Amino acid sequence: MDLLRPSDLSDEQLDHLLREAEHWFEHNRGTDKRADRLGGRSIALAFFENSTRTLLSFDMAAQRMGAMVTHFPAAQSSLAKGETLVDTALTIDAMQVDALVMRHPEPGAPETVAAAIRAAVVNAGDGTGEHPTQGLLDVATINHHFGRVEGLKVAICGDIRHSRVASSTHALLERLGAAVTLAGPAALLPEGHDGPDGIDAAVAGADVVMMLRIQRERLAADLGDAPGEYLARYGLTRERFATAAPGAVVMHPGPMNREVEISGALADSEHSLISTQVEMGVAMRMAVLDLAINDPASGD
Ligand code: CP
Repeated sequence: MDLLRPSDLSDEQLDHLLREAEHWFEHNRGTDKRADRLGGRSIALAFFENSTRTLLSFDMAAQRMGAMVTHFPAAQSSLAKGETLVDTALTIDAMQVDALVMRHPEPGAPETVAAAIRAAVVNAGDGTGEHPTQGLLDVATINHHFGRVEGLKVAICGDIRHSRVASSTHALLERLGAAVTLAGPAALLPEGHDGPDGIDAAVAGADVVMMLRIQRERLAADLGDAPGEYLARYGLTRERFATAAPGAVVMHPGPMNREVEISGALADSEHSLISTQVEMGVAMRMAVLDLAINDPASGD
């Protein structure tokens, strides 16, 4: 099956992924990290945009599951000779891969590719569109820490407008029963957003505070903020975080800009789940690749 957005998953599949990710999370802490669910399978990773966490964790996930992994070298490929994205994907598909994991700057590019090829397509982030596996690992991390998602108050703060993480994580949090508040500068909130945009109101009483990076590479005009101004007005400082609920946690999908949207000391503190998110990223992607390739609907 293809995984292009969170809504591609049934409730049963979402529940299955959360349970499987928890299993692989514990498994990966053991000395023998091998699992053989994908033995003999072939997976291509095609990243047309930079990545550290998503690229490495899909690579590790596929290898730990026993699959053969091939990296598509976007910068050295025949795209530079004018070959289209779909022809590129058809070429990779003709090599009998079982899954194509792709990141692309154009929203909807994975959907276009999925409509053209036989292999399962997993969206690893499409521009300002969706990042379903990030959303999945975020809710799995919250579930791992609190033992539930339902009933928690979650503040997602920062550049909501340009964030595919905000789209996917927000959708999954609400689906699992969390109460989500979005906050950020007016220019970085979704068009038509009519809720509170003050970070102080969003953080007060929250169980989870998720900070997002300003995606300056996607801004039409610079914010014009002076050094330190963004953190003081919209960022997560220790003072702001002190107003969150007792036992509250800090999350960030990364990459983070320390002292811009988040205090570095807070990111490194005992309240932070940021490295747990990274660890859960490998576990969740093991679960996702298994579902995408071994699901009975795979290859349809
Ligand atoms: N969170 C995330 O997608 O990080 P990368 O861009 O490093 O993959």
